Amino acid sequence: HDAEGLAAFEQIIAQDSRVEPRDWMPAGYRKTLLRQISQHAHSEIIGMQPEANWITRAPSLKRKAILIAKVQDEAGHGLYLYSAAETLGQNRDRMMDDLLAGKARYSSIFNYPARTWADMGAIGWLVDGAAICNQVPLCRASYGPYGRAMVRICKEESFHQRQGFEILLELSNGTPAQKQMAQDAVNRWYAPALMMFGPPDDESPNSKQSMAWNIKRFSNDELRRRFLGMMVEQAKVLGLTLPDENIRYNEAEGHWEHGPLDWDEFAEVLAGRGPCNAQRMERRREAHENGAWVREAAAAYAAKRAAKEHA
Ligand code: 3HC
Repeated sequence: HDAEGLAAFEQIIAQDSRVEPRDWMPAGYRKTLLRQISQHAHSEIIGMQPEANWITRAPSLKRKAILIAKVQDEAGHGLYLYSAAETLGQNRDRMMDDLLAGKARYSSIFNYPARTWADMGAIGWLVDGAAICNQVPLCRASYGPYGRAMVRICKEESFHQRQGFEILLELSNGTPAQKQMAQDAVNRWYAPALMMFGPPDDESPNSKQSMAWNIKRFSNDELRRRFLGMMVEQAKVLGLTLPDENIRYNEAEGHWEHGPLDWDEFAEVLAGRGPCNAQRMERRREAHENGAWVREAAAAYAAKRAAKEHA
């Protein structure tokens, strides 16, 4: 059965078609997808925190309403992705427990503090901008449920990026103090956003196999450079500068280049020793405990309904 299954799987990949939950798949394919999709879901859920902290401090009702909508979207993205991960045979409780126990990764980017309102602009513009760069190719991931979840998520991400860009544009065209606040936020979020794409290609253990299985369509460095090229143009419109004097377009290679990134800092963040790791995990554990009554009530209601149906 495995020989037949493998032949069918390899044909699907060779034809660049879709693998669906009931198709035979190599254990390694299932494992790496469960790893990536669950980490992606955790990133969306933890990613709600930096912005949620500014909902009560938004400068206007309009900004508050937009920020509330964005944070709600991130929660929804998390739920789509947990559902996509569950089709690989692991239930949501187990994924949640791994996160709460500090055993699961989530994106490095959410371990940095959002210090001022301008950070809401920098996060929307740079972090959601990077997420879009990474997620559009994932719409074509070979695993059906993942690719399809990405299509819906990417539509909402573009709104997230536009509202961030608009916050920065308004500040940049405001008072000198507002412009400085926007520039300061861009200075702090630029390098962490570039590192979101993952380690350099020659230090990326999963890339080769993920690309062979049509999960990852472009390498970490390729997407990082593509994102940089987009930000260079948009920074001009914003009237803000990217904090990297080594940015240049490499004519010979046909791609953008940036200055050195602090991969030691990246490793520290991934090891749980970033600026906000402890705070983000503490908040997540608290929120999980505070939400226990909702889960219990929903389970009790479902049990009552089931009993009534079988009565
Ligand atoms: N943060 C945390 N861990 C990271 C990371 C990051 N930014 N980049 C890489 N890593 C980890 C990988 O998970 C891997 O560890 P593991 O084997 O224990 O999982 C290790 O570092 C080596 O990296 P690789 O390049 O070999 O790993 P991948 O092939 O998985 O590539 C990736 C990393 C590009 C992030 C890929 O996993 C991916 O595309 N994931 C889906 C996208 C995603 O998770 N995005 C989160 C962004 S935030 C977000 O979406 C919310 C938005 O609304 C703002």
